[in-house]
Amino acid sequence: MIKQAIIPLAGLGTRLLPLTSVFPKELLPINGKPGIEYILDECIHAGIKEIIFIISKKKEMIRDYFYNDHFYKKIIKKKKDPRILKEYRKILKYKKMIKFVYQNKPLGTGDAVLKTKKYIRNKFFLMLLPDDLIMKNNCSKSMISVHKQYKSCVMASMNVKKKTVSRWGIYKLDRKLDNKNYLIKDVIEKPSIKEAPSNQAVIGRYILPKKIFSELLKQKPGKGGEIHITDAIQKLIYNEDKFIAHNFTGKYLDCGSMQGYINSTLEISKL
Ligand code: G1P
Repeated sequence: MIKQAIIPLAGLGTRLLPLTSVFPKELLPINGKPGIEYILDECIHAGIKEIIFIISKKKEMIRDYFYNDHFYKKIIKKKKDPRILKEYRKILKYKKMIKFVYQNKPLGTGDAVLKTKKYIRNKFFLMLLPDDLIMKNNCSKSMISVHKQYKSCVMASMNVKKKTVSRWGIYKLDRKLDNKNYLIKDVIEKPSIKEAPSNQAVIGRYILPKKIFSELLKQKPGKGGEIHITDAIQKLIYNEDKFIAHNFTGKYLDCGSMQGYINSTLEISKL
């Protein structure tokens, strides 16, 4: 059973400067609600019961967003506005599920995952990267059923333009399992166009095994001096662990770049 999810939130958000110079990108509004709430709703509807936020001291504002009870209680008492009460109840529901851990140095996604080691109880857990919104279809939920069916790790996959491969983790695929799922032979973090084995990219949804922690403990920094989760996954694949690339249905929105962020509000307002 996949009941726990982790969300790395300690990134600096440099691609969204100046918006992120004082404000965490995950709290920026997308069509009237903070981006992180779309991710939380996806988790809840996929049956996740506990969510671990990996934040940093610089991003305490994310914690404050869920712990502003005093402010809400005062306003609700004074104004008796049902809309505010409803919003507060939603925040309370989220808060109950969230645990916070800290990654104060931005050493990469692999390092962020490692910070959650002592909290993961089951054999498998879900990870969502908050820059990647997937609308219209719950990608985490579909991946959890693929995991149940094939008893293996699962990662979201999408076709990207060849000239953009160096922005993503790129798969080398093995045999087709069914319409939407392929076994993964290899995965390479941000390859050059020449190195890229395909143009199937890793999108930020992963069902990972608990044993990835021991791999991460041994791992040396990779591209850009960071500890990449992709490199640890590659090791597991080389050790015969089964990983599936799931071609999700649903609308992908890249909220980590300025153009993508602007576009996401337009796209969501059309849904
Ligand atoms: C991360 C992963 C990369 C993946 C991407 C999806 O990159 O390292 O493999 O393709 O997310 O959004 P980042 O966006 O942190 O550069």
